[in-house]
Amino acid sequence: MLQINSVTKQFGGIKAVDDFTCRVKKGHIHSIIGPNGAGKTTLVNMITGVYKVDSGTIFLDGADITNISTDKLVYRGVCRTFQNLEICENLTVLENVLLGFDKYMDKGLLKSCFRAKSILDDEKRYIDRAKHLLGLIGLEDLADKKAENLSYGILKKLEIVRALGTSPELILLDEPVAGLNPKETQEVSDLIRTVVADEVTIILVEHDMKMVMQVSDYITVMNFGKKLAEGTPDEIVNNQDVIRAYLGSGVVC
Ligand SMILES: Nc1ncnc2c1ncn2[C@@H]1O[C@H](COP(=O)(O)OP(=O)(O)O)[C@@H](O)[C@H]1O
Ligand SMILES: [Mg+2]
Repeated sequence: MLQINSVTKQFGGIKAVDDFTCRVKKGHIHSIIGPNGAGKTTLVNMITGVYKVDSGTIFLDGADITNISTDKLVYRGVCRTFQNLEICENLTVLENVLLGFDKYMDKGLLKSCFRAKSILDDEKRYIDRAKHLLGLIGLEDLADKKAENLSYGILKKLEIVRALGTSPELILLDEPVAGLNPKETQEVSDLIRTVVADEVTIILVEHDMKMVMQVSDYITVMNFGKKLAEGTPDEIVNNQDVIRAYLGSGVVC
């Protein structure tokens, strides 16, 4: 589904991503792991049009999407969540999910932020779908609560649900369980595995190895901007290069 061919991105003297090549299969949960500074977020930023590549190409379903803007990628079924939360705190939970429907509404994301009230008035079917999505993760009772009053764990889940609102084919999750407690982490794992993976292909950047090993179909390991290894979870935990560079011994899976 996604072909990343020899992409490179340099910041000053640092090659954040260095001649990186990778294939993501349709329907897979494909994790990208590696030490801090390995280039994972930069890679996600290039795939999602936040950064332009210095060189290399990216193809989605055979179409060249290299350096296409984030907005246009949403229309091609690509969306993402951010390492740092990008929730509109002054809006309700429901309104935040409605922002995900932006592409169908012919309104800019920012405008939607301010016009959410009129969306609520106009678009019952969007509201029904948003409530359905919230129901999938047990947040329907919080639909009318202001996001600013909710816990970090709930907001992280909300961000994934909001990304689902665009009905994506490919979703990129950058550290979706960072800062969550074990119970919340399990809930997000379940959400990703059962709800999300049924509908979409997922690229997951995550440090929580227990979760990565539980949910991934395939794993690519990055180190110093390059691909260090790739394989199934079993292959990765037993790969000596990966153990040396990243996992250490005694990984609990
Ligand atoms: N916008 C930027 N400007 C300058 N350097 C950056 C920028 N983004 C990332 N980097 C650098 O690129 C390298 C890879 O960073 P990043 O992609 O965030 O790694 P990871 O997500 O794997 O922790 C790091 O050395 C980081 O400091
Ligand atoms: Mg990162």
